[in-house]
Amino acid sequence: MAHPIEASAHRGQILSFLSDPGEGNDPACYQHFAEGLLLIENGRIAAAGPEAALRRQLPADFPIIDHGRNLLMPGFIDTHIHYPQTDVIAAGGRHLLDWLNDYTFVEERRFALRTHGAEVAEFFLDELARNGTTTAMAFCTVHAASVEAFFAAAEQRGARMVAGKVLMDRNAPAELLDTPQSADRETRDLIERWDGVERLSYAITPRFACTSSVAQLEIAGRLARDFPDCYIQSHVAENQAEVAWVRELFPSARSYLDVYDGHGLLRDKAIYAHCIYLDEADRERMARSGACAAFCPTSNLYLGSGLFDLRAADAAGMHYSTATDVGGGSSFSMLRTLDEARKVARLQGQDLHPLRAFFLATLGGARCLGLERSIGAFTPGAEADFIELDLQATPLIARRTAAAQDLSDLLRIFMTLGDDRAIKSTYLMGRLS
Ligand code: GUN
Ligand code: ZN
Repeated sequence: MAHPIEASAHRGQILSFLSDPGEGNDPACYQHFAEGLLLIENGRIAAAGPEAALRRQLPADFPIIDHGRNLLMPGFIDTHIHYPQTDVIAAGGRHLLDWLNDYTFVEERRFALRTHGAEVAEFFLDELARNGTTTAMAFCTVHAASVEAFFAAAEQRGARMVAGKVLMDRNAPAELLDTPQSADRETRDLIERWDGVERLSYAITPRFACTSSVAQLEIAGRLARDFPDCYIQSHVAENQAEVAWVRELFPSARSYLDVYDGHGLLRDKAIYAHCIYLDEADRERMARSGACAAFCPTSNLYLGSGLFDLRAADAAGMHYSTATDVGGGSSFSMLRTLDEARKVARLQGQDLHPLRAFFLATLGGARCLGLERSIGAFTPGAEADFIELDLQATPLIARRTAAAQDLSDLLRIFMTLGDDRAIKSTYLMGRLS
């Protein structure tokens, strides 16, 4: 018997990107239907277009979910976040290294217990959905149980998530250390159990150069070669004291980035958070290798780490996307993140056009993950992970959006004034989550 088709139709204002709008407002880079229709079949995008034209394809009595003038767009993609740091948000700490020692490492010890990881994972996934984030690339902790808990919770919701066990075998409390051998064994085991299950993917996750021995980085590089379809995630060049420490730990490396390069950890599907203190050679190397940066403005401002140089990254042809870096980052909201991203650009005499900002948070993130055919845009056949932004979310948003001149204006209002209250609904594979 043929499988019955599950179909739905959503009416509203529709936005989806086709390519990077750069600094301008090139209409070839996006599709915007002020009165649009989004058609979903079996959890996938069937069509997105003008309501008048698409309505003709539907039976006259087909039920249409009416979102009024609210904005329907692909769900946000957060390319760098730590689920075990949900309870570290708003902790004290001045700079990265004391914040890690005094708060983060203390909290991460709790994830030895799978039950704790399971409870936090549920809250974390709820919070992502409330904020309109439908895909995230997440760090777990050094404990395999933390990965099991996370993937099990994500699988149950049918969410598309990338995650991995942290590799760290030095310069951290003993309870948080693995060894090169256990890192290798547990990572292989977790890849076998979870990579490719439903919409879950595995990321090989050396925390950062400071907490991995050369032997462990070699293991990470071998894993990266043995599993070319798996992701790699790490941190690089976030903070000046950290950069100086890496220079002491790896005196023969040309740069911090070069430590990872020397171990075969720069390639497609590798995402490096921060990338603040890179030089030209590093940026070119990132661009050529296919590795991408995660620009984490709320974290970089909260921890006083520094300013990501968008113009230099663009000039080098580096690919990057926006990310929250919770709990160094101070919000789960991609809208708050885009607001801070614009301020980081402004502090350097640069601009972040609202169209570019929303591109980075959707299709830009999908491209960094190599998933642009599956998520991040309303391409026919793509997975129907999408969100509804509420033009009346707050009295001030209602007042400002009523006076919006055009799409760019509307997006700037959302990214400047919006947070979780602006996300009216979040859909995963076409279903309200
Ligand atoms: N560098 C190494 N570990 C971390 C972490 O947990 N958060 C941030 N922001 N940077 C790091
Ligand atoms: Zn991080």
